Amino acid sequence: MVNYKDLGLVNTREMFKRAVAGGYAIPAFNFNTMEQMQAIVMAAVETKSPVIMQVSKGARNYANATILRYMAEGAVAYAKELGCEHPEIVLHLDHGDSFELCKDCIDMGFSSVMIDGSSLPYEENIALAKKVVDYAHQFDVTVEAELGVLAGVEDEVVAAESHYTKPEEVIDFATRTGCDSLAISIGTSHGAHKFTPEQCTLVNGVLVPPPLAFDVLHEIEKKLPGFPIVLHGSSSVPMDEVNTINQFGGHLEAAIGIPEEQLREASKSAVCKINIDSDSRLAMTAAIRKHLAEHPGDFDPRQYLKPARENMKKMYIHKIVNVLGSDGKLAIK
Ligand code: 13P
Repeated sequence: MVNYKDLGLVNTREMFKRAVAGGYAIPAFNFNTMEQMQAIVMAAVETKSPVIMQVSKGARNYANATILRYMAEGAVAYAKELGCEHPEIVLHLDHGDSFELCKDCIDMGFSSVMIDGSSLPYEENIALAKKVVDYAHQFDVTVEAELGVLAGVEDEVVAAESHYTKPEEVIDFATRTGCDSLAISIGTSHGAHKFTPEQCTLVNGVLVPPPLAFDVLHEIEKKLPGFPIVLHGSSSVPMDEVNTINQFGGHLEAAIGIPEEQLREASKSAVCKINIDSDSRLAMTAAIRKHLAEHPGDFDPRQYLKPARENMKKMYIHKIVNVLGSDGKLAIK
């Protein structure tokens, strides 16, 4: 049993409190490679931002659970080496699908876990989330639960249709589960294809997706004043990265994300954690494709992973500074 505090990690409690009060959101970036981890830490240190590094069940299968755990420990040491004396780094399980997986992560040093029972009937979702909360809180690990269903694909989490969170359920759910934050469904979805072109409106040659359901968000905020709210599926799918991928041999059709203005608006509300995974995948792939197309003789992975890391870092900094507003928000600077 390893406690996250011994690894220099923090849970989400205090950072969420400050984010809700301050009208900004903490970035939750998914990672499963060393380059992603380095880029996240460099971006967080440069911007003096708290950060959530999250891994899904698929990432643990890909990279190995033990290695990822040590990478998070390494992230804290790396942040300090880069000059940040008091980094605030959370190691979070994204989309935990069972009590056993959440327990395993908690026992391995995670400081926060998500239990995603959103596809279960309401009472079963509550029972599962409560079981995880009861275990996690013994070790001061924070728990995110979810109500409502997001469409899209995130590793092994697949849902064809979304169902908005019902505001009338949130008080009962939060009270009975004791969860520390609540992921809601208001129109975001996982992956790089969040909307079909038919769902969008063409404005100046750009496909603009339907707006997020801010009315549902505001209803939820009224029911649970100050309670930390989480948005999954919040990549904006930047067109320049998609175009670079397609220009250099890729084939990504109709990739459409959430406009950044809407995420900026959401960050000012009780939304205090915004999940971004696809944008990092796009930034990495675009840089690698471009590099290899322009340097066909290169075969040392460092030659193409270095620009990939740079491109991800640039994207993370942009999100922190221009979208979420968490720059300069470390408790101790
Ligand atoms: P994106 O696919 O929009 O990046 O969402 C990631 C996510 O929500 C991880 O849980």
